[in-house]
Amino acid sequence: MVRILTLASGAGSNFQRLLEEHSHHPFDAQFVGLIVDRPNTGASSIAERNSVPVSMVEYAAFEERSHFEAALLQCIHSFEPDLIVGAGFMRILPEEIVHKFQNRIMNLHPSLLPAFPGLHPQRQALARGVKVSGCTVHFMDSGVDTGPIIAQSVVQIPEGCDEQTLTDLIRIEEHELLPRAVRMFCEDRLRVEQGIVNIRKSV
Ligand code: GAR
Repeated sequence: MVRILTLASGAGSNFQRLLEEHSHHPFDAQFVGLIVDRPNTGASSIAERNSVPVSMVEYAAFEERSHFEAALLQCIHSFEPDLIVGAGFMRILPEEIVHKFQNRIMNLHPSLLPAFPGLHPQRQALARGVKVSGCTVHFMDSGVDTGPIIAQSVVQIPEGCDEQTLTDLIRIEEHELLPRAVRMFCEDRLRVEQGIVNIRKSV
């Protein structure tokens, strides 16, 4: 049984989809907790409705980033996770956590990495005039959106598309992609060799 800890900062639609997928087509996992970095997130309401324990490590409540990181580390350890899933978590994780949970932290990012890492990837994509974008699930390393890529989905960008429309189009794909990646992890199908994720066929 894989103990999954989710990290989120926002509405939590991807977290919701993960819970739904697990309840409709179960995989060998237990959602042991949710950590949020701010109050009043949609994600925490979803966790409460689904009896998933919620902890808040409020970024704004700490005067120094290092204190926030220490509290986050302690909170993560308290859940004893096997897999950490960043589902719209808008903080960079401290090196110590990334190192400790190497190839056990997934991040969801709304672009086709390595294109457009960092903030506002949809805006970056539109500004560059690319004709396709999409979303990526990858293992976190110590860089910004640079870790081994697990899965990606492509979105065609319509003529005249604005940032919100692109965000919505990408989110439709994210709702399929993240559960698929988490399921593959829980089925022990992901192997990382020299920075490349190899996926074993399902049996
Ligand atoms: C998702 O679009 C995810 O790709 C993005 O936050 C959104 C969360 O939506 N993550 C990042 O930008 C991380 N850098 P949700 O709260 O509805 O799941």
